[in-house]
Amino acid sequence: MAEVIIVRDAAAGGALVADHIAALVRRRPETVLGLATGSTPLPVYAALRTRLAGVDVSHVRAFALDEYVGLDPAHPESYARVIEREVVRPLGLDPARVRLPRGTLPGIEHAGEDYEHEIADAGGIDLQILGIGSDGHIGFNEPGSSFASRTRVKTLTRQTREDNARFFAGPDEVPRHCITQGLGTILDARHLVLLAFGEGKAAAVAGAVEGPLTASLPASAIQLHERVSVVVDEAAASTLGFADYYREAWAHKPAWQGL
Ligand code: GLP
Repeated sequence: MAEVIIVRDAAAGGALVADHIAALVRRRPETVLGLATGSTPLPVYAALRTRLAGVDVSHVRAFALDEYVGLDPAHPESYARVIEREVVRPLGLDPARVRLPRGTLPGIEHAGEDYEHEIADAGGIDLQILGIGSDGHIGFNEPGSSFASRTRVKTLTRQTREDNARFFAGPDEVPRHCITQGLGTILDARHLVLLAFGEGKAAAVAGAVEGPLTASLPASAIQLHERVSVVVDEAAASTLGFADYYREAWAHKPAWQGL
């Protein structure tokens, strides 16, 4: 089962995950990270700034989960720009080693396959950071996505476009299509770290961790993975049936096991 860690707040969750990532990079300078966008991972990236200061990150590689299709890559809300702004520049990563699926229209029909090859050529992803959509999506794998899916173009649900409208002038400005790592791609990463904060994520988190395995709640695919850390605050954990067990397990976890 996924390990569920209930933290005080988003900052504490960000610090916990950043400590683990920084230790990983120190141990293995050629670590391959899987990056997520959205507001949830921002405390991780913020905490990494101090933790990676002075660490050689020139060999780190990173792959983003997803990108909008048809949005000008120079648009401030394209995930290429978001990753550049929130991760690449502040952490001093080599921009050439940080990749996103290509959402531009020419060549879009083979962009998914190209991305799969890039990830495979890098030796796969060591640690994949994940947020979760209010409808239970991870990456942009909307409800109904196959657990075997690979990187491909998807149509965003109305709910996701409304959720993401805050980054644009309005819901109509949010692109209709995206290109996202598939659930099968995500499950190939060696360690999944899913973060969720706030009451709005409680139902999706409970479904992902404790609900039945179902494509209707794509994040439930994490139950198929052998190494998953789910980092949530009290509000996002509020509808978990086994919360007391998770607290007890974490409180008594041997230090040598780490995250
Ligand atoms: C978008 C991203 C997801 C992210 C989700 C939740 O849909 N494609 O990777 O997990 O938003 O966003 P937030 O963290 O802002 O709630």
